[in-house]
Amino acid sequence: MKVYVVDSDFFVDYDYAIEKQVIEASGNELILETCKNEQDVMDRCKDADVLMTVLVKLNGTVMDACPNLKGLVRYGIGVDAIDIAAASQRGIPVCNFTDYCIPEVATHAFSMILALSRNLPIFTRNVRQGLWTHGPKGIPMRRASSRTLGLVGFGSIARELCGYAKAMGYHVIAYDPFLPAERFAQMEVQQVTKEELFAQADIISVHTPMTPDTFHMINKDTIAQMKDGVIIINTARGPIICEADLIEALKSGKVAAAGLDVVEFETITTSDHPYASMDNVILSPHAAYDSVESTLDLHRKAANTAVTLCSGELPYNTFNKKDLAH
Ligand SMILES: NC(=O)c1ccc[n+]([C@@H]2O[C@H](COP(=O)([O-])OP(=O)(O)OC[C@H]3O[C@@H](n4cnc5c(N)ncnc54)[C@H](O)[C@@H]3O)[C@@H](O)[C@H]2O)c1
Repeated sequence: MKVYVVDSDFFVDYDYAIEKQVIEASGNELILETCKNEQDVMDRCKDADVLMTVLVKLNGTVMDACPNLKGLVRYGIGVDAIDIAAASQRGIPVCNFTDYCIPEVATHAFSMILALSRNLPIFTRNVRQGLWTHGPKGIPMRRASSRTLGLVGFGSIARELCGYAKAMGYHVIAYDPFLPAERFAQMEVQQVTKEELFAQADIISVHTPMTPDTFHMINKDTIAQMKDGVIIINTARGPIICEADLIEALKSGKVAAAGLDVVEFETITTSDHPYASMDNVILSPHAAYDSVESTLDLHRKAANTAVTLCSGELPYNTFNKKDLAH
């Protein structure tokens, strides 16, 4: 059977050795394409049994153009590139990988918390400018055991981060209306309402998916409910925070600092973006998922998923499993 990676050039300098080894060992064939759009996929991948994509969209028309299709794979967590309803209607499983970078994102969020709490961006600038101890002092530096960390969403990444934070002495509270009380109790974390979290946390780290419910969950009204001098971390999705409101709050000092791996309007490509000149903001270019190990894990999982789909079985990571059952 034929497994196509439709936009294989996305992973620059990667040779697909893992996929080749796993897919060919199972008696299937791996074909690397460099499609730019749906039409390219329809022209070049008609005989696909499995289509794997990073960014190229796979809609119903593409699915109909590939009559042998047994599955679709999205290299990553989000499945926006694939028309899920169209796939489900046609009985085609869609697979993604929600579990390949949990330690990386938790580490990234924790790094931002520690760096901001210790004023590292401001101190670095001071020293580089020859100011040594004479530059701005930044925020009051506080011992971990005096701080409450509030986790918005208490899924895999938040729980990993919780472990790191508790080991350092932070008091951790969490809000997640979709989890039973036992999940909080297991980690000895105080379960709170959203309002309690905003009112009590010294540091707020966001770990929910982007949904209509979480869109702009952090905005001027909810920021007003927070402690003065709160630190906000977002490694989840940019639009969960209203960027204009956060910028205002950072300027006024209501929010002391922010660590942002994701921003509302990705990508930032100009140096005159308001965040660019803020010493109390750490930015990274949606890179929290990345590490040598997470990359290898993603390719290994992708290869195994393709093989499972070729065998006609439903992989554990089938996103539309429930819809396929109907
Ligand atoms: N920056 C990156 O590179 C990167 C990488 C991976 C994941 N992420 C983001 O991190 C997010 C969290 O990932 P995860 O693996 O922990 O996901 P997860 O599914 O394990 O956990 C998400 C949690 O959010 C909760 N939730 C959903 N809606 C909520 C709401 N309205 N209020 C409060 N809680 C709510 C869910 O109940 C769930 O427990 C993902 O949705 C993804 O957007 C970012």
